[in-house]
Amino acid sequence: MSRRRQIYEGKAKILYEGPEPGTLIQYFKDDATAFNAQKRGSIAGKGVLNNRISEHIFTLLGQIGVPTHFLRRLNMREQLIRQVEIIPIEVVVRNVAAGTLSKRLGIEEGTQLPRTIIEYYYKDDALGDPLIADEHIAAFGWASQDEMNDMADMAIRVNDFLSGLFAGIGIRLIDFKLEFGRIWENEYARVILADEISPDGCRLWDMATNEKLDKDRFRRDLGGEAEAYQEVARRLGLMPEGEASSVLDLDTHRKKRGK
Ligand code: TMP
Repeated sequence: MSRRRQIYEGKAKILYEGPEPGTLIQYFKDDATAFNAQKRGSIAGKGVLNNRISEHIFTLLGQIGVPTHFLRRLNMREQLIRQVEIIPIEVVVRNVAAGTLSKRLGIEEGTQLPRTIIEYYYKDDALGDPLIADEHIAAFGWASQDEMNDMADMAIRVNDFLSGLFAGIGIRLIDFKLEFGRIWENEYARVILADEISPDGCRLWDMATNEKLDKDRFRRDLGGEAEAYQEVARRLGLMPEGEASSVLDLDTHRKKRGK
């Protein structure tokens, strides 16, 4: 592992050169950051859980015809992916008001939105990933109009599919972030889903209690981050029996904290 060439290190993942041209190895760290890395910490076991959760979701998306960079999981923390040219745009899909939308527009968190909203953010840490309009994307050439259409279409398909998947396990999909990348085939570029889909980049609320099962536990110092990620994995059927029974549930966590 140590002799592999590192291609890129992000806040939550590291990319290494893959075994064949056009492939990379995506390594999931336990590191957690929030508010553009102003807050830093770590969630024990997060990398293992996100690797597994993202594998599961990308595999299902592949089965319904959404092209993704995922090839296969290699081990607890690594997966083999296709190398893409990342489009520098974060696509956020929102079903329910929360986070920056609530803050920016003064809409109470938890308010069902009248329709699904897609937002674009320019992926630039130095600028703090600013909210942008389609016009900026076109004017600065970050993506073509066809690519914009493909990303929006895929974002809606992913939202429809994930909303149903999570509803089936008692979870409300509030919002999530997607990233896309280009692959080149015979001089033509095609856009595919990249990065990861995990509780790091989604808001997931328990349908019965509104308990947060995502990175907001870390962002807002709610505690029980690892337990929340484990709960998502458990409900998705990804925890072996032994592990699931040894997992502290959120009730236990609350009792421990005397709440
Ligand atoms: P926001 O409410 O903070 O704008 O976040 C919207 C969704 O996008 C939420 O599910 C978290 C996710 N997200 C990321 O994954 N990475 C980011 O850098 C940001 C700002 C949001």
